[in-house]
Amino acid sequence: MIRQPTILLVEPRHYDVSYSINPWMDPMRWAADPRGLHRQAAEAFAALHAALQRIGFAIEVAPGEPGLPDMVFPANAAVVLDGRALLARFRYPQRQGEEAAFARIFAGLQARGLLDAVDTLPPGCFQEGAGDCIWDAHRGHFWAGFGPRSSRQAAGRVGAHFGQEVVALELATEQSYHLDVCFCPLAGGEVLYYPSALTDAALAEVRRRVPAHQRIEASADDLRHFSVNAVNLHDRIVMARTTPQLREALSRRGYRVHEVDLSPFMLSGGGAYCMTLRLDRASTMQALPARNDIMPARAADAEAA
Ligand code: ARG
Repeated sequence: MIRQPTILLVEPRHYDVSYSINPWMDPMRWAADPRGLHRQAAEAFAALHAALQRIGFAIEVAPGEPGLPDMVFPANAAVVLDGRALLARFRYPQRQGEEAAFARIFAGLQARGLLDAVDTLPPGCFQEGAGDCIWDAHRGHFWAGFGPRSSRQAAGRVGAHFGQEVVALELATEQSYHLDVCFCPLAGGEVLYYPSALTDAALAEVRRRVPAHQRIEASADDLRHFSVNAVNLHDRIVMARTTPQLREALSRRGYRVHEVDLSPFMLSGGGAYCMTLRLDRASTMQALPARNDIMPARAADAEAA
């Protein structure tokens, strides 16, 4: 497996919004200006690629396929941990063709030594990849969303496959149809999340496991900006254009936010995190540099204390 922070992106040549499987998707708006939006999508993709590279990621870009516009959201393609990829099973027929397309992409990554193993889930449950199964490196477990897309029983199957704890959280709204729309664990142990997207039981579970000082509550406005759908590496965060409140809250905690205009992808219900898939996630902390190397501001605080 690879140790260097590495992200998989899928280039947006075949991206469009031609169907609607979540409440953000707006095929009419796309149809009003397909050429203009396609050009804007290419620019937004290039800006995201550049921002991710700037904060320290190596990037792998895979090709998309005609007729599979949502391949630009590889977060849904698989769950990856310790060099092992577990391929997704999509709920909607519109995205099911991606399973074979991504299986080919992952076989290529394995052939090049970027992955050690590629496996599939037993049939009978839906699981939409890292979009609904987020590794919390600080706590050493997965958080799994279920309801609108992934099945409740997927959490147990992913846990058994990787030999890791999976904390299942039921999603309460169609607007947060994947967990990554409303939930984002950060490197320093904070969790950025939108409470109303979770059922009461899920919310209680989050509050039981994450102490109050580590909980950052996003607003409805932050959710609309796809600000919770963020990519974090050490003290850097890449996200779509956000709100002044959230930018300020994150900066107070020592995070530097890099904003990218992702509006053409938000028309499909996606932000920065969904457009990425981490290939280097490791269950052991040793894979990361020591904390004082990666968070100079925080290390200085700790020394002063
Ligand atoms: N149009 C895509 C869908 O509805 C967007 C997926 C965004 N991915 C995510 N992980 N939130 O499936």
